[in-house]
Amino acid sequence: MTVKLEPGSVIAVIGSGAMGAGIAQVAAAAGHTVKVYDTRPDAITIALAGIGTIYSRLADKGRMTHAEADAARARLHGVSSLADVADAALVVEAIVEDLDVKRGLFAELEGIVAEDAILASNTSSISITAIGAKLRRPGRLVGMHFFNPVPLMQLVEVISGVATDAAVAQAVYDTAASWGKSPVHAKSTPGFIVNRVARPFYAEGWRLLQEQAADAPTIDAVLREAGGFRMGPFELMDLIGHDVNYSVTRSVFDAYYGDPRFAPSVLQQELVNAGYLGRKSGRGLYPYGANAAPQPV
Ligand code: NAI
Repeated sequence: MTVKLEPGSVIAVIGSGAMGAGIAQVAAAAGHTVKVYDTRPDAITIALAGIGTIYSRLADKGRMTHAEADAARARLHGVSSLADVADAALVVEAIVEDLDVKRGLFAELEGIVAEDAILASNTSSISITAIGAKLRRPGRLVGMHFFNPVPLMQLVEVISGVATDAAVAQAVYDTAASWGKSPVHAKSTPGFIVNRVARPFYAEGWRLLQEQAADAPTIDAVLREAGGFRMGPFELMDLIGHDVNYSVTRSVFDAYYGDPRFAPSVLQQELVNAGYLGRKSGRGLYPYGANAAPQPV
């Protein structure tokens, strides 16, 4: 299989939440026509409006010209049906972190896109091998794992499952590099590189909280100000979303046959139960809003 992704080719982004919107923003700024699909039409509207505002701000700050901002905005298109992404050379999926739902989406996409189109998943932790296993051509399924916030985070993990074609992984690697990112190749293992190494960072934070060693702002401040981390574990999980972070932990825990090192936190499960998902829901460990002082729940 020869794979070459032309610089101006059409990219489809499925799921226009925090990650999908960021991926669409970066891809359109890099010169691609970008088609954005979400099962919730309002999510597409919000994402495109948000990206437009960001381009304008970047232009006001001189980080791109106003003409470039207008051109990038014009390359972004919300679509109302999956069938509308038929001309995509690369489809990047950023929907809910659920194996069956992702498999269902890719099965549908296989019947829509061209034979040589690449299918990429932004999954944080689900096996790329498992996502691709039900496809007619699993070789074209690869992980393209961005980090939050996508426009600011350099790293992209390019994940190969057992059946992933090496040329497909290389094409995605080259594409990420052409978008100004710093890609790395990795094999599909639970949590890949970053989310695997990060599990103890979150888990020990929860344990400290549970044992009342210190409160969340203190733990965050210590890690940030003395530990050299850009964010403490709780403010980072509030940014990522507790629903997403919890499912990643569950998925790594299950993949390692319940190894207690990776056990999810009951405290976090309760936050998810409460709908306190973090910044995106206006409340996580901390409240968010126009005047909210960062006090923990
Ligand atoms: P999100 O909850 O902000 O957005 C997900 C979007 O997908 C929603 O707008 C939802 O309506 C849409 N959606 C759900 N099912 C769909 C379907 N079947 N077809 C089309 N659209 C559908 O989630 P977020 O944070 O953007 O995460 C998306 C994916 O990216 C997940 O797999 C997550 O694990 C992964 N990821 C998340 C990171 C984070 O920091 N939040 C970092 C890296 C990866």
